[in-house]
Amino acid sequence: MRTDPLAYLGMELDALRSQELHRSLRVLEDRQQATSTFDHKSVVNLSSNNYLGLTTHPMLVERAIQAIREFGVGSGSVRTIAGTMEIHMELERRLAAFKKTEAVVVFQSGFAANAGTVSAILTKEDAIISDELNHASIIDGARLSRATIKVFPHKNVDAARKILQELPAAQRKLLITDGVFSMDGDLGSVPGLCALAEEFGCIMMVDDAHASGVFGKNGRGTIDHFDMHGRVDIQVGTLSKAMGALGGYVAGSAALIDFLYHRARPFLFSTSHPPSVAATCLAAIDVLEKEPEIIERLWDNTRFFKKGLETLGFNTGLSESPITPVIAGEGSRAMKLSDRLFEEGVFAQGIAFPTVARDKARVRTIVTAAHTRDELQFALDKFKKVGSELGLI
Ligand SMILES: Cc1ncc(COP(=O)(O)O)c(C=O)c1O
Repeated sequence: MRTDPLAYLGMELDALRSQELHRSLRVLEDRQQATSTFDHKSVVNLSSNNYLGLTTHPMLVERAIQAIREFGVGSGSVRTIAGTMEIHMELERRLAAFKKTEAVVVFQSGFAANAGTVSAILTKEDAIISDELNHASIIDGARLSRATIKVFPHKNVDAARKILQELPAAQRKLLITDGVFSMDGDLGSVPGLCALAEEFGCIMMVDDAHASGVFGKNGRGTIDHFDMHGRVDIQVGTLSKAMGALGGYVAGSAALIDFLYHRARPFLFSTSHPPSVAATCLAAIDVLEKEPEIIERLWDNTRFFKKGLETLGFNTGLSESPITPVIAGEGSRAMKLSDRLFEEGVFAQGIAFPTVARDKARVRTIVTAAHTRDELQFALDKFKKVGSELGLI
């Protein structure tokens, strides 16, 4: 009889179970919104990236339905063969105007945008200098490029400078940071790194996935927030979080975008978005431009909830965004906190090693513009109860 060549995977899973780190997927049974039903339980939802509540916005839903009626449900091809529809081009033009850059290319996801871009523009002769907490898609793109990878300690511009000083002056270099870090909610050292990129002649790239729709005027991101227009060569944004739909994009020069049309592998080798996704994203840009008060509501809720957690005495790290971690220490403790909160009616996902450092396991909370004060107060009351129970406050 054939022995199972994948038996080792079962052992790995057993190891996770023994460390109390094995998770089942939580299943959403209704809509992605401020209070949702997961696993048959109605909970205040602090786990989505639906910052502006746009996943269920009536105008976005209507535009998606209209696009399906008019253009069908799929694009039927990759962009470089028959899968570029006029609505894809319209979205790219609209995003370029919104981001104030010459051009934009839209990818199937933010992950594909980062990994596809970094791997396309670098070769094994080049170097990438990357913040240690940059997103997995940047790390994968760097590995695929086969460039030399140099990692600097989180937000440490001086350490990045030392790395640059040691690299050959003639070598091509990409300096890269997240605009907002997804697990800690703090901002990247965008101004300091831009200055460094100019000093050393690096390509400067910022992944603004969690800043899109959240930071800057009308949600234009950290480049706008820090007034760094014209100083970042490659801006990545996502359409999957605050924009409520799906996708990622790269904003930059016309030459960069044309090059990515020719060389970015997810663009060349994976089917483009259904037209309804592009229509939804166009509607989301309308919301950002015409209803900026929705972003203000997100920030009001953020300030209220963060202050509440801090007043209760939780360790919320150094967050500067609507992402607020509640740091619990050991992985099993964070999972216990998450599980008990869920029993009490609050969904805040536990996050442990390898996503964060072993001793910095946490539950991550993200408030949205759609949460009411009552929902947030309910969540704070439950954090107080469970946090005391587990000795965290
Ligand atoms: C910092 C960062 N970059 C990129 C991505 C990928 O974005 P998307 O979900 O659109 O693939 C994420 C999402 O998890 C992220 O947190």
